Amino acid sequence: MVDRKPLKVAVQMDPIERIDIRGDSTFALLLEAATRQYDLFYYTPDQMALADGEVFATVRPLTVRDREGDHFALGEARRTALSAFDVILMRQDPPFDLAYITTTHLLERIHPKTLVVNDPAQVRNAPEKMFVMEFPDLMPPTLITRDLAEIKAFRAEHADIVMKPLYGHGGGAVFRIARDDLNFGSLYDLFSVTFREQWVVQKFLPAVKDGDKRIILVDGEFAGAVNRVPAPDDLRSNMARGGTPTETDLTAREREICAAIGPALRERGLLFVGIDVIGDYLTEINVTSPTGIRAIKNLGGPDVAALIWNKIEKKRAG
Ligand SMILES: Nc1ncnc2c1ncn2[C@@H]1O[C@H](COP(=O)(O)OP(=O)(O)O)[C@@H](O)[C@H]1O
Ligand SMILES: [Mg+2]
Repeated sequence: MVDRKPLKVAVQMDPIERIDIRGDSTFALLLEAATRQYDLFYYTPDQMALADGEVFATVRPLTVRDREGDHFALGEARRTALSAFDVILMRQDPPFDLAYITTTHLLERIHPKTLVVNDPAQVRNAPEKMFVMEFPDLMPPTLITRDLAEIKAFRAEHADIVMKPLYGHGGGAVFRIARDDLNFGSLYDLFSVTFREQWVVQKFLPAVKDGDKRIILVDGEFAGAVNRVPAPDDLRSNMARGGTPTETDLTAREREICAAIGPALRERGLLFVGIDVIGDYLTEINVTSPTGIRAIKNLGGPDVAALIWNKIEKKRAG
């Protein structure tokens, strides 16, 4: 047996005092890291700096425990070159804005010598509702545009549609426009002034009433899944919008989807990914800060956090 040193890990995340530990996937990863006795450190994206060709952060030693209201303790702050860590978990939540993109530029400078999960340049290149468009055979009919004539033609063809922001998250501003809905024109106007970016127009999938399945892939392999059923009065399945997590298995089609996208994820260093499937259709590939792993374990499913660290250890060992 080789006697290995524990990994030295820093987590880049939103303020840890504000997370809800019952559902937070980052926290699940940190608990498993603590079990493995890694050396854990914490910082927020606001504490990063680039100077003299080096990326620094003001990090603090972190201990975690699975206790609501008392889930962490921090040690003394020290400015540290991020290249001193074996692993950085990039786990801040969207918005995927220029601040987010800037952190990917910073972390790109130390990866892969320091293993950044997920690969920051690849995260930058794979906005969740854009990357998925590389797999049109797996998707519902989908249009990305802000051109009214394009949207009208799509609506004429598909009748019942959904409009949602391209860089939206957590179910924000997702609208269904049924056939003959007279609100379409106003909603178009509202989107065009609210969003500078193009947006997503997609065929409405009635199967959403049975749920939107979150499937986790670790290094391109299926690792666990949870179904999320929307509240009866809402289109959106997101748990943050009242969706209920329920236990689930993969259908044959979902296995096919995993097999089809797995190699692309592995090639790109997208080690921890959550995809969303409604009915038989892939709608999103989440690479920034996927969630769902605590829900999967709570429902009696696999320990995805352990699978992720196993894979990271393997990669570090070369
Ligand atoms: N094409 C669609 N048909 C039916 N429901 C949809 C469709 N697109 C999104 N939804 C509903 O809206 C929710 C949020 O949409 P999603 O595309 O996953 O964006 P977000 O990044 O905000 O989670 C989904 O979980 C689902 O309940
Ligand atoms: Mg989603």
